[in-house]
Amino acid sequence: MFWAGVLILLAVTALALYATFRPEERTLGRPRLLLIGGGLIFPMTVLTALLFYGVRTGHALLPLPGRPDVFHVEVVAHQWWWEVIYPDVGGRPLYAANEIHIPAGRPVDVTVRSADVIHSFWAPRLGGKIDAIPGHSNRIRLQADLPGIYWGQCAEFCGAQHARMGLVIEAHEEPALQERLARLAAAGPAPAEARGAAAFQTFCAGCHSIDARVRGTGFGPNLAGLATRRMLGAGVLANGRESLETWLVAHQVLKPGNRMPTLPILEPAERAALLRYLEPSR
Ligand code: CUA
Repeated sequence: MFWAGVLILLAVTALALYATFRPEERTLGRPRLLLIGGGLIFPMTVLTALLFYGVRTGHALLPLPGRPDVFHVEVVAHQWWWEVIYPDVGGRPLYAANEIHIPAGRPVDVTVRSADVIHSFWAPRLGGKIDAIPGHSNRIRLQADLPGIYWGQCAEFCGAQHARMGLVIEAHEEPALQERLARLAAAGPAPAEARGAAAFQTFCAGCHSIDARVRGTGFGPNLAGLATRRMLGAGVLANGRESLETWLVAHQVLKPGNRMPTLPILEPAERAALLRYLEPSR
């Protein structure tokens, strides 16, 4: 298509130059043939051929059912974070947030929904974007040819913190992906951290689940395996023990208007217990 396009461009440019600089008395031998042949028949033939080619190629790119090697993941956009659901990991769904793990080298169908307003799911290096519309389910097929990190971003203005609605997509070789999902399924809080557990129950559990197998209310991001995530607050801070503490204290400064209420001022020992409870594996 590119080389055919170049040829046509050169021919048209040559004719335009000829028309501009030709001596006045000279005309092309058969202007009528040029008009009808070059102006009507040629473009109609080319465009018709391209139409059939384009329809076929476009159809092959659609996320149609029936391909056995497709990896499925669901994404629910919230103001302002991404809920991630792996619908079938060993026969049950797993819930996660703001980070998607996919296989490299095979197609991934992402089913996109919204919990509130219109958002748009966009992973620039993996393909097009698709809107997340309340009450509607959209699907896009992506593929990461190589393992690695691919950043995503909400691409439809969805409120004050639209710009801070980032997403991490990590593509793995098949065994590494299975290992990652198994680790997510098994992730849990520190079992012996009673004081942290009590604080979590009081302040966090109303919105957050900390078990990837349990969705909970879904008001806030699932926190299972939090320590292994790259970012906090949907792309606001690089993850780490210190930044988690910063987030707990100052998230309304870092991301004003986000749905998480400001925590009451915990005394340092209680906050430390909550942090240990949230991140046993760091
Ligand atoms: Cu969500 Cu913009």
